[in-house]
Amino acid sequence: MNTQPGGVWRYSSLLIPTLREEPGEAEIVSHQLMLRAGMLRKLAAGIYTLLPLGLRVLNKVERVVREEMNRAGAQEILMPMVQPAELWQETGRWQQYGKELLRFKDRHDRDFCLGPTHEEVVTDLVRREVRSYRQLPVTLYQIQMKFRDEIRPRFGVMRGREFLMKDAYSFDLDEAGARVSYQKMNDAYHRIFERCGLKFKPVEADSGVIGGAYSQEFMVLAETGEDSIKACSQCSYAANVEKQPGAACPRCQAPLETHRGIEVGHIFMLGTKYSEAMKAAVLDPQGHEQPMVMGCYGIGVSRTVAAAIEQHHDDKGIRWPAPLAPFHLHVVVLNPKDTPRAAALGYDVVLDDRDDRAGIKFNDADLIGVPAQVIIGGRTLKEGLVELKRRSDGVVRKIEPGGIGGVLAEWLGMPAV
Ligand SMILES: Nc1ncnc2c1ncn2[C@@H]1O[C@H](COP(=O)(O)OP(=O)(O)OP(=O)(O)O)[C@@H](O)[C@H]1O
Ligand SMILES: [Mg+2]
Ligand SMILES: [Zn+2]
Repeated sequence: MNTQPGGVWRYSSLLIPTLREEPGEAEIVSHQLMLRAGMLRKLAAGIYTLLPLGLRVLNKVERVVREEMNRAGAQEILMPMVQPAELWQETGRWQQYGKELLRFKDRHDRDFCLGPTHEEVVTDLVRREVRSYRQLPVTLYQIQMKFRDEIRPRFGVMRGREFLMKDAYSFDLDEAGARVSYQKMNDAYHRIFERCGLKFKPVEADSGVIGGAYSQEFMVLAETGEDSIKACSQCSYAANVEKQPGAACPRCQAPLETHRGIEVGHIFMLGTKYSEAMKAAVLDPQGHEQPMVMGCYGIGVSRTVAAAIEQHHDDKGIRWPAPLAPFHLHVVVLNPKDTPRAAALGYDVVLDDRDDRAGIKFNDADLIGVPAQVIIGGRTLKEGLVELKRRSDGVVRKIEPGGIGGVLAEWLGMPAV
């Protein structure tokens, strides 16, 4: 399959098994729509295959995440999913972590687990390779499948057992440096979720099993969110209810309002919890050994896809924000013999060249939710024009085919590649 940005894909050659009926297994709209739009299929509880459309969206989220991580100075690596028990014994988490940690033995009877997170593995790497303060600061990240044997996997990729995460880890000589690294990631997270076209709120949070001094979650606001947030009606204070069960703002005493949210990101100031347990130290300028001060930073990449749908849909289907859309333009050809020669627009185009009724094509186009549709055929085509429809609000313009690129640039808010 062509994966170049700015290409044209023929609908008839893509596997997009859309469903007319509401699938019974799905409880929330993002899960229903991912199944109905042919993005996703279930293999086992909390374990899914992404089909071409689903993967295209996931790749778009990944691209935004990578660009912002790289811009913030983080370096991409790829750690193993299978991790030896010894590392987890060093930090005590082999005992602490409950059944979410999937453990197994290899043929030599050695204990392993599937990585639910990678503090131990990355700390082991850095303690071996980084010995001097001169090599700091360093922030490493990966985009990789995690496995957590969740007690209640549900809502599709929103709470899976196997899911794609971006996890980053920062290492600094001291607290002050660690705060700078944390702030860089905080800024990158704001840019990532803004670029994804999401309404979100950073909130103070509990550090849970990962531990550490303080942490913040990035919540996408949605009624179906599993988390409850308390946000101040007067100032910018907001917290997860687990952290702030009270009714008044601790900063200004104004009343707190409750919202529902989906946790798409979580950043932690870890301090020296892992570096002390695992003896990850560097020599400071005076030649003394100092445990490195760490931070860790997660983004649920696959969960972000579902969260975007929770915020952007209507009763007909998905309404993708342009930066995440599987395609930018959906070309509906009413009569296959009018199929245009694919013109290079510099946008990702899907061309519905199927020999099907117009109604089916319109329904599928609205369901899949590409931000702009162009309808080719009928009286408009005889006039030498095409109809351009904006998915977000249904606005229609009749224009000459040569004007499509210009209107797209305006509607999508992004230039051609
Ligand atoms: N089971 C899951 N399915 C999909 N994404 C997940 C899952 N668990 C965590 N994530 C994503 O990975 C990110 C980083 O993981 P982290 O350990 O901070 O999650 P968490 O606090 O356990 O999340 P939750 O409270 O939702 O279980 C989360 O912010 C979330 O977006
Ligand atoms: Mg969890
Ligand atoms: Zn306040």
